[in-house]
Amino acid sequence: MFEREIVSCVYYLSAIDWDRRLFDELIPLPDGTSYNAYLIKGSEKIALIDTVDPTKGHKLTAYLQEFSVEKIDYIIANHAEQDHSGAIPEILELYPEAKVVTNPKCKVMLMDLLLISEDKFITVNDGDNISLGNKTLEFTIAPWVHWPETMLTYLKEDKILFTCDFFGSHLAASEMFVTDEAEVYEAAKRYYAEIMMPFRVQIRKNLEKIKNLDFKVIAPSHGPVYNKPEFILNAYKEWVSDNVKNEVIIPYISMHGSTAKMVDYFVDALIKRDIVVKPFNLTKTDIGELAKALVDAATIVIASPTVLVGPHPNVVYGTYLVNALRPKLKFASVINSYGWGGKVIDKIKEMLTNLKVEIIEPVIVKGYPKEEDFKSLTRLADEIYEKHKEQNIV
Ligand code: FEO
Repeated sequence: MFEREIVSCVYYLSAIDWDRRLFDELIPLPDGTSYNAYLIKGSEKIALIDTVDPTKGHKLTAYLQEFSVEKIDYIIANHAEQDHSGAIPEILELYPEAKVVTNPKCKVMLMDLLLISEDKFITVNDGDNISLGNKTLEFTIAPWVHWPETMLTYLKEDKILFTCDFFGSHLAASEMFVTDEAEVYEAAKRYYAEIMMPFRVQIRKNLEKIKNLDFKVIAPSHGPVYNKPEFILNAYKEWVSDNVKNEVIIPYISMHGSTAKMVDYFVDALIKRDIVVKPFNLTKTDIGELAKALVDAATIVIASPTVLVGPHPNVVYGTYLVNALRPKLKFASVINSYGWGGKVIDKIKEMLTNLKVEIIEPVIVKGYPKEEDFKSLTRLADEIYEKHKEQNIV
């Protein structure tokens, strides 16, 4: 735990989780993460913006004691998820006079998730202010970044926007401010893909909404602080836009080599047409990398052998994730091999109902691919090229 001052009397209390490798028992964290709380000492009141994951609660409380924080008046809860709210009960035990300040939706969730009693809350609505004396907090309701109750806190006098998950990155780093934009860009894009992408349209509205706030710093609750926020704002604008790139994503599995042979041929065919190709062998894929690739791609081609009539179970898992993440893909197709029959194509199509994609005629092969099958793969590559041309992305 470190004490870092962003501006006078505004502190970055980051509990860095260098070793965490999985979030929600689902999302790989190759670079660890951090849970950032912020302490604001006003001339009259003291506020803590968010807390930390309960596994790191002892670090936050030790920090507050070590630096002789004698009272906390307000614990601002921007988001109810436990990696930020989980240490609120510990803080309330240490500072029983503190009130939890949040919006009505978040209050109900905190009561349900953390069993905090109702008398501990002060509720605020969109545009409300709380004065700390010489510093003022203004609240902006920003739903669906990435839960329905999320809000942002703006520190007016210092022009700092506290965004919790919004603009965050799972990146354990000792630096308080972003020092390597390229590194943070990749981590933030991966984070956006895994957490925010299903809510792209709502996030677009929230990006419009925060234009009304004159902030110079974005302080998220994961990863480093943006003291030059233009680059992450521009990145988000691009990610949530409807623009797609000349890219094809190929999640695949091969059991005895037929599907792998087709994927290999198909990848080369796309490369020859100057299309960026990203194949993902689903036995080895970090799903965060797959999610990140889906942020910009125009087309997905899912390749699977047939197992007990349907797609390989790993392909089912990958396809389910793709559908749940709702990427802005425009086109989809399937490459399938089978021994004696099956319904792979129908089953994959049934799993992509969230996507607004045009289905390009799949390639279905009995046994090992033969000359006419490679011709079909060439036809599929040609069709994708033409579709991308129509989108003006080739
Ligand atoms: Fe970082 Fe939605 O919690």
